[in-house]
Amino acid sequence: MEVRLEQVSKRYGQKLVFENLNETFESGKITGLVGDNGAGKSTLLRLIAGLDTDYTGHIYYNGQPLSKPLYQQMTMVFQTPYLLKRSVYDNIAYPLQLRHRPSAEIKQKTDAMIARLGIEKLAKQYAHKLSGGESQKVALARALIFEPELVLLDEPMSGIDAASVSFMEQMIQEYAREYRKTVIMITHNARQAEELCDRIVHLHGASTGGVC
Ligand SMILES: Nc1ncnc2c1ncn2[C@@H]1O[C@H](COP(=O)(O)OP(=O)(O)O)[C@@H](O)[C@H]1O
Ligand SMILES: [Mg+2]
Repeated sequence: MEVRLEQVSKRYGQKLVFENLNETFESGKITGLVGDNGAGKSTLLRLIAGLDTDYTGHIYYNGQPLSKPLYQQMTMVFQTPYLLKRSVYDNIAYPLQLRHRPSAEIKQKTDAMIARLGIEKLAKQYAHKLSGGESQKVALARALIFEPELVLLDEPMSGIDAASVSFMEQMIQEYAREYRKTVIMITHNARQAEELCDRIVHLHGASTGGVC
């Protein structure tokens, strides 16, 4: 899914976060979103995710404004994982259940994802009792399992162990490459931006002139 911003501006009350952003996030590419703390990266991701509709300008998804069918084709992973107080298995299966996929498909895909993560032993455990790295891997698995067209990542890999980071990087890379999906990820990690992203967008905030 291509995401195109046209003259997008965002304020919180009197405070201008960014102004007149024009940017295209290409289909099938991983774009890194970088910028200082407070530059507006999370805010921009929330606008793209449709979680905040209080802005001016336009955001087009494959040339269309946001609609319910489009909304169902995107996913966002946050810095703090939001896992349901259910088992690991149920958390990963949830997006497929929500979309009323056949139960045989749900079981097959969820089992395959759990095997891929190597967490068979944790499948029945409550998800909110996992370690930080495990939680984020489960959050990413839940995001990718329904094969969304657009994946928005707000620093889900900060503050977790190196092995989990490298596992998640590999999952994201394979996902974008093999399925030709669009990924927009906020990162503070220069090595990660360089190695993982096809392109970097710098967000400078309103005071220094927006995206370059
Ligand atoms: N809900 C909110 N209400 C008011 N100001 C906010 C809110 N969320 C973020 N801000 C402000 O908007 C600016 C951009 O924040 P944010 O998008 O979180 O930046 P980043 O993710 O780049 O660190 C910051 O100055 C922040 O304090
Ligand atoms: Mg942020």
